[in-house]
Amino acid sequence: MAKFYITTPIYYVNANPHIGHAYTQIAVDVISRFRRMIGDDVFFLTGTDEHGEKIEEASLKAGYEKGGEKEFVDSIVSNFKRVWDTIGIEHDGFIRTTDDRHKMVVQDFLQRIKERGDIYLGEYDGCFCTPCETFWTETQAEKGLCPDCGRPVTRIREKNYFFKMGKYQETLIDHIKKNPDFIRPDFRRNEVLGFLKEKLNDLCISRPKDRMSWGIELPFDRDYTLYVWFDALINYISGVQGTGLKNQYWPADYHVIAKDILRHHAVYWPIMLMSAGYDLPKTIFAHGWWKMGDEKMSKSKGNVIDPIALSDKYGVDPVRYFLIKTVKMGCDGVFLEDSLVTLYNSDLANDLGNLLSRTLAMVEKYFNGLAPEDDGSAASDDQRKRSAALMASVRDIFPALEEKMKSPEFLLKETLEGIMQPVSLANKYIEVSAPWACAKNRDIASIRLIISDLLEILRSVTIALYPFIPGTSMKIWSQLGLKGTLGKDITWEHILASSGRKYPPGTKVDKGDPLFPRILKP
Ligand code: MSP
Repeated sequence: MAKFYITTPIYYVNANPHIGHAYTQIAVDVISRFRRMIGDDVFFLTGTDEHGEKIEEASLKAGYEKGGEKEFVDSIVSNFKRVWDTIGIEHDGFIRTTDDRHKMVVQDFLQRIKERGDIYLGEYDGCFCTPCETFWTETQAEKGLCPDCGRPVTRIREKNYFFKMGKYQETLIDHIKKNPDFIRPDFRRNEVLGFLKEKLNDLCISRPKDRMSWGIELPFDRDYTLYVWFDALINYISGVQGTGLKNQYWPADYHVIAKDILRHHAVYWPIMLMSAGYDLPKTIFAHGWWKMGDEKMSKSKGNVIDPIALSDKYGVDPVRYFLIKTVKMGCDGVFLEDSLVTLYNSDLANDLGNLLSRTLAMVEKYFNGLAPEDDGSAASDDQRKRSAALMASVRDIFPALEEKMKSPEFLLKETLEGIMQPVSLANKYIEVSAPWACAKNRDIASIRLIISDLLEILRSVTIALYPFIPGTSMKIWSQLGLKGTLGKDITWEHILASSGRKYPPGTKVDKGDPLFPRILKP
C-alpha cells in the first residue's frame, strides 16, 4: 500500500476560520478522499498554531490573565474542529503546538540543529511585525511599517539566538532546480528562486522569555522561548510522530499552503530539515487567496465569510463544489455569493439534480422502479449511435480521474469540469432521444436503452464526484440502489473493472426528494 502524507497549514487561533482557510481544508480533503479511494495509506494532517505574541495578545484582549493563554486557546480550538467536521473534512490527525508530543519533537529538533553547529547567540537589532509574526530589517520595514501587511512594526534590540540559514542557501537552490515538483505551481518556483538570488540572512529564532513567555523554551537556554514560525513548521514532523522518534509517514508528499506563507515553507523549512538531518517534502503547493473585491479576505480587514453560515444557507456540498470549481488552484478568486447561486442553479440543480430526478422518475413511470435491461435487440440505428456517443463520454472516466488527480499541478477545477461533461451530455441525450415520444409509439426497446444509459452515466459520475461532494454522492448512490459505501468498501480495482455498462439491471431505485431545489435569485 503506497503511503500518502498531505498537510494543511496550522491555523492561528486568534480568530475563527473563514472561507479562505476552509478552501485549503476542502482541497486537501478532496485529494485525500480520492487517495483513500484508490487504496493509498493516507495521512491528512491539520491543526492549530497556538504560541507567539499574536496569540498572547489575543488572550489578554479576550480577558484572560497573563498565564491564562492555554485556557484561551483551548476555548478556541474546539471551534476549529467543529467547523472542519461540519464541512465534511476527514482529517487523520489534528496537531496542536501546545501538545506535549509536539514540544518533545521540537526540543529534539532544536538539539539536533544545535549539535550541528547551526545555532549561535547574537544581537538582534531590527523590527518585528506581530500580526505577521515576522522579523524585518529596518530597511525592509520602511517608515516603520510591515512590508507584507502595512501595519506598524515594533523596534527590537536584544540578545537572541540565530539559525545559520545562509550556510544552506546553495544546497537549497540546487534542490529546487533539480526537482521541478518541489515547488508548485511553476511560477511560484520561479518566485522562490528569484528571492534566493539575494544573500539569505541568518534567522532570529528566539525571544527573551521576560519579553515573550508564551512559547516553547529553548532546550539549551531556558531564558528564551522559540520563534513561533520555527515552532509551527515542526508540526509537520510531530503530527505524524509515532512512539519514540519513529516516523512512518515523513517525508510529506504535499504541503498545501496559501501564497503568503511560501517563503516560510519553501526556504526556512527545507533548510531547517537539512540542518536537522531529515528528508525534504516532495511538493509544496501554494494556492492563491480568496478576496472580497480587491482585498484579501482576512479577519483584520473585517471582510470574512463564515463557512458555517454559508453551508447552512446553501448546503455543505454546494459550498465545496463552488470553491473548487470556481478557481484554478494557484490563482486568486473573488468571492461573490451571486456566483455561488448561479453555479448552484446551472450545475447542481439544472444538470446533476435534474438528470437524477428525470431518470429515476422514468424508471418509476415505465418500469415500476426497477432498472430496465437493454438486450441490444431493438431501437433505431440513430438511437444506437446516440447511445454509443454518450457512453463514450464515461468509458475512460476512472483512469482519466486518476491521472488528473495525481498531477502535482492540483488540477481539481479541471477534473471537476471533466466529470460534469457527461452529465450535461446526458441531459441533452434525453431531449434528443425523447423517451416520451418512444412511449407514445410503444417503442419500449428504445426506452430500455435510454434509461440504462442514463443509469450508467449516473453511476460512473457519482463515483467520480465522491471526493468533491461526498454527502451528495452517497445520497445518489443509495437512490440508485447500488451496494457498498463510496470511499469505504469499494476497491479501486473493482471500480476500474466496472468501466462500461455495469449498472445492474433489475435494481430497485428510490426517487426521493429533489437533491438541489432551484434557488430563486432576489
Ligand atoms: N499559523 C500560520 C501557518 C503555519 S503553518 C506551519 C498561518 N496561519 S493563518 O491562520 O494566518 O493562515 C493559515 C493559512 O490560511 C495560510 O496559508 C494563509 O495564507 C491562509 N489564508 C488566510 N486567508 C486566506 C484567504 N483569504 N484566502 C486563501 N487562503 C488564506 O499563517
